[in-house]
Amino acid sequence: MLQGDNAQPSSQRAAAHPEPVSTVVLAAGEGTRMRSATPKVLHRIAGRPLVEHAVRAAAGIDPDQLVVVLGHGRDAVAEHLNSVSDSLGRPITTAVQEEQLGTGHAVSCGLAELPDGLAGTVLVSYGDVPLLDADTLRAMLDEHAASGNAVTVLTSVVADPTGYGRITRDASGQVTGIVEQKDATAEQAAITEINSGVYAFDAEVLTGALKRLSTDNAQGELYLTDVLSIARGDGRTVGTLICSDTWLVEGVNDRVQLSRLGAELNRRLVTRWMREGVTVIDPATVWLDCDVTLARDVTLEPGVQLRAGTTVGEGATVGPDTTLTNCAIRPGASVVRSHGEGAEIGPNASVGPFAFLRPGTSLGADGKIGTFVETKNAEIGEGTKVPHLSYVGDATIGEKSNIGAATVFVNYDGVNKHHTKIGSHSRTGADNMFVAPVEIGDGAYTAAGSVITQDVPPGAMAVARGRQRNIDGWVAKRRPGTAADQAAQRALGNEPTDDAETSNGEGR
Ligand code: UD1
Ligand code: CA
Repeated sequence: MLQGDNAQPSSQRAAAHPEPVSTVVLAAGEGTRMRSATPKVLHRIAGRPLVEHAVRAAAGIDPDQLVVVLGHGRDAVAEHLNSVSDSLGRPITTAVQEEQLGTGHAVSCGLAELPDGLAGTVLVSYGDVPLLDADTLRAMLDEHAASGNAVTVLTSVVADPTGYGRITRDASGQVTGIVEQKDATAEQAAITEINSGVYAFDAEVLTGALKRLSTDNAQGELYLTDVLSIARGDGRTVGTLICSDTWLVEGVNDRVQLSRLGAELNRRLVTRWMREGVTVIDPATVWLDCDVTLARDVTLEPGVQLRAGTTVGEGATVGPDTTLTNCAIRPGASVVRSHGEGAEIGPNASVGPFAFLRPGTSLGADGKIGTFVETKNAEIGEGTKVPHLSYVGDATIGEKSNIGAATVFVNYDGVNKHHTKIGSHSRTGADNMFVAPVEIGDGAYTAAGSVITQDVPPGAMAVARGRQRNIDGWVAKRRPGTAADQAAQRALGNEPTDDAETSNGEGR
């Protein structure tokens, strides 16, 4: 996958040395081509902003210093980086590039945050290259150390080099520099070996060359890429590491590339989980975020999206057509055609089809949240079932209870939310309203159609509805001659009236 171009015999190569390594990730650009109010590097694929992918790769080689250069949308980007720093458990230094004067200027801003007398290796990568991984960065460090290069650049040979800087080489094949698309002659534009934007620099060579950059180019910017020709001009060696997996070095400049790389990252994630023992019926319609954990023998049916923080336990089935964010699906459970966030579904429990699980939902082992059921802040005990057409909000329900169809937990009085508690082994009737705060004891029953406003003691039956009364002969008197009247007369064994025989029915 990775091929160094330095042909020195290994005896002449320096051994990998424990020099200090600093990494600088550039993320100050606006990303004009995204046409977005959101800074480019905060656009997401697989649930993570582009800059987080870049920073995690850089952190993966455990550098002594990790600097991210911010500019456009710096507050929002810095805030996100705080959470990344927490999750990685390592410091991330941020530098600010007030004006976007080019990638070379951005690196200078980054280095300004590092201690004086910088030595060792500086690894630079760009915040808009999301599939680059730590393995490739490690290979860069190894190649750089082993070759003794002053600069090593990660390159790739691509079918369509449009937009990338091209690698120029002399007759002997040695790298002479990088020419940007906008500065390239027709001949240079035809070169298909491109600059990925990942470099390993000798720290002194880099700091020296950065001071000598000029803006004499098509974009009037200080190009980091010019460091290569400067180093070469000083008689230093510049080498490449060629990456044959071109996806790893692709950058995102617009939303077409965002979706293209998002789809590729998804294919890689889905493939990885299939190799770990997950059955994915239709990989093309299953979308997984990076922060998802799947156990063996999980089955993902078509049309499933599993978003950040979701875990699915052994033997569980999700889908078809289900979206889960930050949910824990325990072993053996099934979630069918549903939408959930912040919910925990117990072992062997079942959800859906058509359930809406909102934050704070927890369903015990063997429980059921059935069809057209919405739940929120609802702790539903082991073996308890809410099978049909219900809203369960702000509730605690014990074990092995059954909630009748079309029940509403009336939790909101227009100002405050209130809690409903239902015990274990309770049987509540269909079409109940539980007007919170209210408590139904263990083993209690409620009658269908009840509006429960008072606590029900254990073992009691609560009936809270109007008594039924039947007014005999009402239809014959008030709706004579209608189809209803005819049907009633027939059922009562009476002769239909002449009038009724010619009638078309009601509504006249
Ligand atoms: C750059 C390279 C090009 C390479 C390509 C790889 C230069 C001059 N060109 O081009 O050779 O093939 O990346 O993807 O380096 N940035 C700053 N401050 C700035 C300018 C840019 O922080 O003043 C950051 C951007 O946020 C971005 C990265 O640097 O993350 C690259 O900038 P971009 O404008 O996308 O450069 P490309 O035109 O893609
Ligand atoms: Ca770019």
